[in-house]
Amino acid sequence: MSAAATTPPADDAELAGRHVVLGLSGGIACYKSAELARELVKAGATVQVVMTEAAGQFVTAVTMQALSNRPVYTSQWDARAPNNMAHINLTRDADALLVAPASADFVAKLAQGRADDLLSLACLARPIERCALLLAPAMNREMWAHPATQRNAAQVAADGAVLLGPAAGDQACGEVGDGRMLEPQELRDALIAHFQPKLLAGRRVLVTAGPTYEAIDPVRGITNLSSGKMGFALARAAADAGAEVTLVAGPVALPTPRGVRRIDVRSAQQMHDTVLPLAPRHDVFVATAAVADWRPAQAAGHKLKKADGHVAPAIAMVENPDILATVARLPDAPYCVGFAAESHDLVRHAREKRQRKGVPLIVGNVGPDTFGRDHNALLLVEADGEHEIGNGHKLALARRLVVEIARRLPAAGAAR
Ligand code: C5P
Repeated sequence: MSAAATTPPADDAELAGRHVVLGLSGGIACYKSAELARELVKAGATVQVVMTEAAGQFVTAVTMQALSNRPVYTSQWDARAPNNMAHINLTRDADALLVAPASADFVAKLAQGRADDLLSLACLARPIERCALLLAPAMNREMWAHPATQRNAAQVAADGAVLLGPAAGDQACGEVGDGRMLEPQELRDALIAHFQPKLLAGRRVLVTAGPTYEAIDPVRGITNLSSGKMGFALARAAADAGAEVTLVAGPVALPTPRGVRRIDVRSAQQMHDTVLPLAPRHDVFVATAAVADWRPAQAAGHKLKKADGHVAPAIAMVENPDILATVARLPDAPYCVGFAAESHDLVRHAREKRQRKGVPLIVGNVGPDTFGRDHNALLLVEADGEHEIGNGHKLALARRLVVEIARRLPAAGAAR
């Protein structure tokens, strides 16, 4: 896996109802396209595979047919279509055309508008305004860095294609550098992101996530059971909705969502010191982190040892700063959203928390039911009352929350 690993897919099929044409041009990365086809199908898409002759040198049409559950198109002379115009028909009911891998030669062909095989014909003949063309380049690093390829890539992007990657890393040729095709799950997620309404385009969103860790001594500390999953899902949903997202994460091992800037911190104080200068430069602040309320007043410089007589050490505690309340009080505060994880009396506690923190919106969830899990149930608590946004996978809920937040923001360009 490349460094930018992906969030696991929501169990709601996020590509349900989408018809995707998956094109393969010639390159060793074709072996990953088999898994990509499977990922797209698992995410609910119908997938029509089109292969160039060169792609057929790397993976067979039999494999791709078995995985996509549809006969594969390999030739512009395919007589199966009654009108014999496969190159036109292919994209008429498609929501997107994804070429993965897109070889250097294929990108060059597209840059010139050439169309001498079925896949390049289909790219040229697609209805440009409603069937996006996404390209996942894959080639040797020298081929990618070559000025001709760079020129061609810039040209196809200017013509409206979306370039996904390439990533840097080990290459099949044994060299290391830019040119690796993105992993199948990354391409799946990029396609899912492509289909999300860009409700937060032009907005900057700051998210805190995960637990904090408050050191007692060099080897022990106080933390909590927050997994960070809700905050990471929210960062991903906001980025997919077009926002520029900064994620300040406590100690969790989750992969960074694609396109999100992540800053890792450990303690509440570090989270506070990181968030405060960033907050005024953001339009929205969502505090999902389970920040420790207290920390040991003084972390011991050496590991505490069992004293004679086994007397437990008394650890003096001091209160941590309340990050959300502090940000909400800033004169140029972003739109602030807090989370309330309660074990009982959710509505009462969430209402009280909203007042105390001085924020317009608190999202309530029952902590013990959701910590570490993939599912959650959310309740929105604001000045004029409460309403549920239902239960489900955290990513699906995060997408719903993004819709709710976008609806509450002042129009872009309006003074805060
Ligand atoms: O006060 P309580 O921890 O219950 O409030 C929860 C909300 O406040 C969450 O949004 C959490 O991220 C935020 N919070 C914070 N800084 C703290 C404590 C909580 O930002 N020190």
